[in-house]
Amino acid sequence: MAVIAVFNQKGGVGKTTTCLNVTAALSIAELCPVALDLDPQGHLTLASGIKNVSPDKSMAGFFKHKTPLASLLRDTPRGWQAIPAVLELAKIDALLGGDPQAANLLKRGLNEDLALTGAPIMIDCCPMLGVLTLNALLASDRVLIPVSADFLSLQGVHRLDSALNVLETKLKRKIARRIVVTRFDSRRKLSFEIYDKLKAKFGDVVCNTRISETVGLATSPMHGQDIFEYAPKSPGALDYRALTQELWDTDFFV
Ligand SMILES: Nc1ncnc2c1ncn2[C@@H]1O[C@H](COP(=O)(O)OP(=O)(O)OP(=O)(O)O)[C@@H](O)[C@H]1O
Ligand SMILES: [Mg+2]
Repeated sequence: MAVIAVFNQKGGVGKTTTCLNVTAALSIAELCPVALDLDPQGHLTLASGIKNVSPDKSMAGFFKHKTPLASLLRDTPRGWQAIPAVLELAKIDALLGGDPQAANLLKRGLNEDLALTGAPIMIDCCPMLGVLTLNALLASDRVLIPVSADFLSLQGVHRLDSALNVLETKLKRKIARRIVVTRFDSRRKLSFEIYDKLKAKFGDVVCNTRISETVGLATSPMHGQDIFEYAPKSPGALDYRALTQELWDTDFFV
């Protein structure tokens, strides 16, 4: 099973929402996913219903003290396992930024600790291409790129694609990627234009499934719930179920 980084350097495009709900859909399908929160904001941790996290028992413990990943796993109320994040994680960039080996820590940690479980590993990245995100990208087999259906987000995805191409050259390997359009509003012509432009430029890399802008997806994190628990029959639940199925059918999790 694959390691998947959910990343876009643009903020607020739906990275955490996508990571949470794809993880939840994989969990419902009994694939026992593991979610890693690599964003110091800790939004995935919060939305997964994980409470009372001390820094040493979070991803910060892994980067600062080399605590094995397996010992940091927490059970979430909905049944999958996760390693939470706290604000302390924001110090890792300053702490490890000068070390050329720092970007490989997570890859090594996953190989040593979690490789044998065979579970899909979903990583929620922060909106910056720093040490934490480099760790996620170097440890990942694939990158899932949420792009919200607005003009600035469309501009950002070209820069992100170029950055991933540069990284591919350095790493001497392909970084398989899929783009998913989020916050799609079918009442707006702009949403369709953005989707069409992305399809024209990136073709099959762009998922056919679009994630609609819905109240349920906006409200569910406030309750520490994924969309399948909060509103299982809502359009947001249907969209994330369809997205996970589409990714599954195209071997994204293998
Ligand atoms: N499809 C959607 N419909 C309605 N609200 C959404 C949708 N997707 C995300 N949101 C809301 O938009 C906000 C930003 O989403 P989210 O936190 O997933 O983005 P992000 O890319 O992870 O942000 P950041 O870059 O800060 O980590 C959240 O309040 C979330 O609930
Ligand atoms: Mg986020």
